[in-house]
Amino acid sequence: MIIGTGIDIIEINRIQKAHERWGDGFLKHVYTPEEIEYAKKFKFPYRYYAGRFAVKEAIFKAMGMPDLSWHDVTILNDKSGKPVCRFNKINFKNRLSISISHSQDYAVAQAIVEE
Ligand SMILES: CC(C)(COP(=O)(O)OP(=O)(O)OC[C@H]1O[C@@H](n2cnc3c(N)ncnc32)[C@H](O)[C@@H]1OP(=O)(O)O)[C@@H](O)C(=O)NCCC(=O)NCCS
Repeated sequence: MIIGTGIDIIEINRIQKAHERWGDGFLKHVYTPEEIEYAKKFKFPYRYYAGRFAVKEAIFKAMGMPDLSWHDVTILNDKSGKPVCRFNKINFKNRLSISISHSQDYAVAQAIVEE
């Protein structure tokens, strides 16, 4: 049974501007070291970063836990490219499904929590 859903959309350009303004401090605030390391393989990493920003927001909405912070989840891709969420130091027993998509200008993501 579905007990929570979340969705989020973000302009890819907003992430680029935040990085240009705040530097790597912005990246370290939002993304885990593993996510930042993974992003290094992209010539234009902002699409990747925007997708992760959107999916983290979607997860927070779906989970309905107001105390969550950016580093509580790490978003990785499995061998097929499918995004998967790993929880860091939080106890969350429900099933979580996530999906990410990008266009030229936007990244969008959805999260679904099942009992
Ligand atoms: C998965 C696929 C359909 C993405 O479509 P797209 O229109 O090119 O790109 P989108 O921007 O909509 O989506 C990209 C996101 O899809 C997600 N994705 C990639 N592979 C995926 C998969 N196998 N299953 C679910 N989601 C996947 C990723 O989150 C990716 O973003 P990220 O790399 O930043 O994490 C495309 O990469 C593809 O055809 N892959 C090969 C076949 C495949 O694995 N199909 C899966 C279902 S049959």
